Amino acid sequence: MATLKILVVDDEPGIRSGVSRILRDFKADFPFIDEPIGYEIHEAESGEEAIEIILKHNPEIILLDNKLPGIQGIEVLEWIKKNNIDTLVVMITSYASLELAVKATRDGAHDFVPKPFTPQELRASIENSSKHVFLRKMTQQMHKEGKQIRFQFLTVLSHELKAPLNAIEGYLQIMQEKQLGEEISAYDKVIDRSLERITGMRNLILDMLDLTRLESGKTVQKKEMVVLNDIARNAIDIMRPYAIQKDVDVYLNASKRISYLAYPDEMEIIFNNLISNAVKYNIQGGRVDCMIREEDSTIEITVSDTGIGMNEEGIENIFHDFYRIKNQETRKVSGSGLGLSILKKTVELYEGNVDVSSVPGKGTTFTVKLKK
Ligand SMILES: Nc1ncnc2c1ncn2[C@@H]1O[C@H](COP(=O)(O)OP(=O)(O)OP(=O)(O)O)[C@@H](O)[C@H]1O
Ligand SMILES: [Mg+2]
Repeated sequence: MATLKILVVDDEPGIRSGVSRILRDFKADFPFIDEPIGYEIHEAESGEEAIEIILKHNPEIILLDNKLPGIQGIEVLEWIKKNNIDTLVVMITSYASLELAVKATRDGAHDFVPKPFTPQELRASIENSSKHVFLRKMTQQMHKEGKQIRFQFLTVLSHELKAPLNAIEGYLQIMQEKQLGEEISAYDKVIDRSLERITGMRNLILDMLDLTRLESGKTVQKKEMVVLNDIARNAIDIMRPYAIQKDVDVYLNASKRISYLAYPDEMEIIFNNLISNAVKYNIQGGRVDCMIREEDSTIEITVSDTGIGMNEEGIENIFHDFYRIKNQETRKVSGSGLGLSILKKTVELYEGNVDVSSVPGKGTTFTVKLKK
């Protein structure tokens, strides 16, 4: 889907040609798409003509003025709704009256761009609409392929991806406008923050890939005898730089090498998530203990930390997609809130379960049991 069709409905020729000009060379790019999205613009000068073009060309996005010579924009919107037309409508109107806004939103308008608008405002709205179109198509596609992906997941996802994009865009604007002066060092903080947001976004995307792979039930690897001690060691190594910064000691306790028939990357998901959490939500100078034990019919993995802990409400929710405990102590810790939900789904693939016990201010212990 490299090109989206946009229909501009406005009786003023100046607006129509202006929109065409602004969007002609514009491309929307998101980290989660393969190629940037370009646009093919269609124009209509009345509601009647708009309906003809909609039926003929199926535009993905419609920029709709309300005040038109024949039928009004809002009536076009009603027609779209009644006929279940799969398109996204952005109202462009100089009378951004509250009443009209409410009615248009009720009838399914996606966004409002009050006239007169700047090229930037228009592009921002088109960019946002494109993301919705993309996610909508993705959901439909997944339904078609029999993949179960929850709509709510995608809604939250788009929100989660929008937030860092907005932040980074804001930071770049500060730099573009040289708001902090000519001295490059004045921008250190702004650059650091942008990089942080990018890291967060990358992690989210990686998590998302894990999740879609799990949900589609496809694995590329083969099950093999995995030495869990090695996987644990590796997970500890990954977190080492962070652990050193926080002065957290991480210990692995296993009396022998324990092998288990599994997909290696799924075992990595389990250890990486437990150990990264235990370090991330720890205190300065804290400690993490990872234990692996083999019983008759199960493998038991425990990861205990001396960290900030969590209350009942937290414990009840941490396995939900995107859930993060928000308080003073977690404010500076980055994450997407997907780690544990992925972990739980993974553990269930092995007919296992995961338990958590925690005391606020004292620490947390996660216990994972996998069926042998
Ligand atoms: N060991 C722990 N101690 C205290 N709180 C924890 C611990 N592990 C998880 N949590 C809480 O549970 C929430 C959900 O954890 P989860 O691993 O799913 O997401 P995350 O760490 O925020 O992000 P991600 O793992 O996707 O980078 C965390 O945000 C944190 O508030
Ligand atoms: Mg985590």
